[in-house]
Amino acid sequence: MIRGVGGYLPEKVLTNADLAKMVDTSDEWIVQRVGIRERHIAAEGEMTSDLAVHAARAAMAQAGVGPEDIDLIVVATTTPDYTFPAVAALVQMKLGIHHGAAFDIQAVCSGFVYAVAVVDSYLKNGLAKRALVIGAETFSRLLDWTDRSTCVLFGDGAGAAVMELVEIADGEPDRGVIASALRSDGHHWDKLYVDGGPSSTGIAGHVKMQGPEVFRHAVGKITDVVESALDQAGVTVDDLDWFVPHQANKRIIDGAGAKLGLPPEKVIVTVDRHANTSAASVPLALSVAVADGRIKRGDLVMLEAMGGGFTWGASLIRW
Ligand code: ACO
Repeated sequence: MIRGVGGYLPEKVLTNADLAKMVDTSDEWIVQRVGIRERHIAAEGEMTSDLAVHAARAAMAQAGVGPEDIDLIVVATTTPDYTFPAVAALVQMKLGIHHGAAFDIQAVCSGFVYAVAVVDSYLKNGLAKRALVIGAETFSRLLDWTDRSTCVLFGDGAGAAVMELVEIADGEPDRGVIASALRSDGHHWDKLYVDGGPSSTGIAGHVKMQGPEVFRHAVGKITDVVESALDQAGVTVDDLDWFVPHQANKRIIDGAGAKLGLPPEKVIVTVDRHANTSAASVPLALSVAVADGRIKRGDLVMLEAMGGGFTWGASLIRW
C-alpha cells in the first residue's frame, strides 16, 4: 500500500508575466495552449536530491515512519545532481540511512509510474519491506531560457511516497498497486530529448521538442495504457474514484479524460500551478489531492504518465 505521500516545491515562483519579460510570449498564449499559470524554480545550489529529501521527509511524516524503517530508495529523475552517483544514494546519505538499496530510474516524465511498478515487484518478491519512491526534478536546468516553445512548459519540484505490503483480511479488497502497464518506443526518441550528455557532447544540453508531434501521440498512448491497467484488474473506468495524470499540459489531460469517459471532477489537475515537473508531477499531484482530503483510504486511483523516449505507463492503486 501507499502509506504516505509528500511533496515539495522550491520557494521561487515564476509566473507567465515574468516569462513574458524574458521571451516573446504572453499569459494568454500559455494558459490557452497548455493551462499553465506559474511554476516553481529551484534556487542556485538547490539540487534534485535536496528537493527529493524534502518530499521524502513529508511522505515519511504522513506515513509515521522514520529513516530506519526504509530499506529501498528509488528516485525517478532525468536531472540528477551528478552523472553519478544516483540521486537515490545522495538521498540515502542525506537521510542518514546506511542499510538497504538505492538506485535511480530514468524514464523521463513517466519515471514515477515506472518506479511504482518496479518497487511494487520488489515488495511482492520479498526484496524489500518498505520503500521510498520519489520523483524529483530540477528541469529548469535543462531549459534554453531563450526558447519560448519549451521554457514556458516546465518547472521544478519533488514528490514522494512510502510503499509497503500490508496483510489483507479475507473479504477485504486488495490495497496498493493492483495493476501496472508500462510501455516504450525508442523510435520516437528525437521528438522530445535533451541535446547533450556524457557520451555525446559532454555537456548537459537543452530540451528539444517537436511539440505538435508529442501532442499527436499523447492522448492515444495514455488511454491505451490506462485501459490496459483497467483490463488487467477487471474493472472499468466508472469504478475509478480518481484519475491522477502526468501534469504536462491541460489540453492533453482534458483530451485523455474525455476519451476515457471520465468526468472532469474526478481528474486531479495541478499543472496550472506546478507546470510540467516531469517525474515529480504525478507524486506532487497525489500529495496535493491527499492533503486536501479528496483522495481517501479505499479509493481506486489511476496514475498515468507519458514522456521522452517515448515512455508511457499507468498504475491502478487501491489507496
Ligand atoms: N508563446 C507564444 N507563441 C509561441 C510560444 C510561446 N510560448 N511557443 C510557440 N509559439 C508560437 C510558435 O512559434 C508558432 O508561431 P508561428 O506560427 O508564427 O510559427 C505558433 O506559436 C504555433 O506553434 P506550434 O508549435 O505549432 O503550436 P501548437 O499549437 O502546437 O502548441 C504546444 C505548441 C503547446 C507545445 C503543443 O504542441 C503541445 O501542447 N504539445 C505537447 C507538448 C508537451 O506537453 N510537452 C511536454 C513534455 S511531453 C509530456 O510530458 C507529455
